[in-house]
Amino acid sequence: MIHSPISPAIFYWGTPVVLVTTTNEDGTANIGPMSSAWWLGDRCVLGLEGNSQTTINLLRTKQCVLNLPDETMVSNINALARTTATVEIPDVKIKLGYRYDGNKFKTSRLTQQKSAKVIPPRIQECPVQMEAEVSGVHELMKDGPSAIKGFLLAVEVKVLQTYVDEKLRLEGHVNRIDSDKWRPVIMSFQNLYGLKAGQLAESTLADIDEENYRLPV
Ligand SMILES: Cc1cc2nc3c(=O)[nH]c(=O)nc-3n(C[C@H](O)[C@H](O)[C@H](O)COP(=O)(O)O)c2cc1C
Repeated sequence: MIHSPISPAIFYWGTPVVLVTTTNEDGTANIGPMSSAWWLGDRCVLGLEGNSQTTINLLRTKQCVLNLPDETMVSNINALARTTATVEIPDVKIKLGYRYDGNKFKTSRLTQQKSAKVIPPRIQECPVQMEAEVSGVHELMKDGPSAIKGFLLAVEVKVLQTYVDEKLRLEGHVNRIDSDKWRPVIMSFQNLYGLKAGQLAESTLADIDEENYRLPV
């Protein structure tokens, strides 16, 4: 292996696509596709641009649903790409070819499903849905140039209620997912990938009972 220095503009090494539903000022529902997301405990941290309508809605209403699409939903994700529900599109997004879209459910041919604990709807077609509320906001790159102040945020949300397609459940367990059946969409750089069929190898970490990770609520 020969390593050489590189200075990538983006560091999207591969994380699952999340379709974040939020409520717009006029009460309609928005969908914000994103992938800079990770989970720990019952929290998810979302890396979001401050000028996205999703972020504006999250900071105002404190509520969202994290909907996870599977491999069959790539065309729905592509239909949402380069759309924004902000009426005044920020210059940086105009340059990237974004257009205004006030009805992303129609554009992406997805269906609203009523949520139980939050106002934003779930996306019926997504096999995993997590209703959540904002529990913290952290500004990224505070040490950066003033021109990008407030541009990137890490929004911590608390998962209140999770739903999964019955087909994804691990047989014999009430609260577990059969990871052989869960097929997330992974965004690597700007491209969409599926997981290679089957596990690469038996995982040593997986000898730990998942219940050991449950934190007090
Ligand atoms: C597959 C995919 C992944 C994306 N990942 C992110 C991300 O992690 N963070 C982010 O701020 N924007 C991400 N974007 C861009 C947002 O979707 C974009 O900012 C959009 O304006 C959000 O819509 P909204 O303005 O209506 O909220 C992603 C877009 C796509 C299609």
